[in-house]
Amino acid sequence: MPAMKNILGIIASPRKGGNTDSLIREILKSANEYGSGIDKVYLYDYAITPCNACNSCKETKNCIHDDDFEKIIEKMKNSSVWIIGTPVYWWGPSAQLKAFIDRWYGVERAVFRDQLCALVIPSGGSGRSYSRHVVGMLEDIFSYLGIKHQGTILASGHGSRGSVLRDEQLMSEARDLGKQLAGLV
Ligand SMILES: Cc1cc2nc3c(=O)[nH]c(=O)nc-3n(C[C@H](O)[C@H](O)[C@H](O)COP(=O)(O)O)c2cc1C
Repeated sequence: MPAMKNILGIIASPRKGGNTDSLIREILKSANEYGSGIDKVYLYDYAITPCNACNSCKETKNCIHDDDFEKIIEKMKNSSVWIIGTPVYWWGPSAQLKAFIDRWYGVERAVFRDQLCALVIPSGGSGRSYSRHVVGMLEDIFSYLGIKHQGTILASGHGSRGSVLRDEQLMSEARDLGKQLAGLV
């Protein structure tokens, strides 16, 4: 029997119960209430070795690293919608998300083409200037790979763990996005 198509949350913050995690959980909870199957991965629970640019994936179609990367790609293949969440770290994404995305270099492009994906990006600083590079980087990658962007939740000005939980407007945005994504599965 083929695996059920889920909405998959990919949480690229090391802080469980933090802002990325809280928003993705709210989106998934809402999507689930509207009938979607849901799943989530915490990237920091997986061993993801950085790409060393050996290019063997281009010749053999396989990566030389024997780690957890393929486990996540398998989950992604079995999901109709992805939600990628990363905190802003030094105007960029978290190191684990960057390591993960660098490894996409060796993944067949069909995995990404026409895939639906939403973004969640908390930052301690208020205003878009803190998240603009992360947003720009991910939107350019989406456009390059043919990923269909389904919306972004920017949680600016949320530095402390889980402070988004007290921001009713953001939590409501998260629930709305969950409903919207459930309608796509
Ligand atoms: C190593 C590190 C670097 C950070 N760099 C920035 C930054 O450049 N700009 C910013 O606005 N916030 C920065 N922050 C704050 C985080 O983006 C903020 O606390 C966010 O809510 C963390 O999300 P989380 O709770 O999901 O881990 C940084 C936090 C850490 C730990």
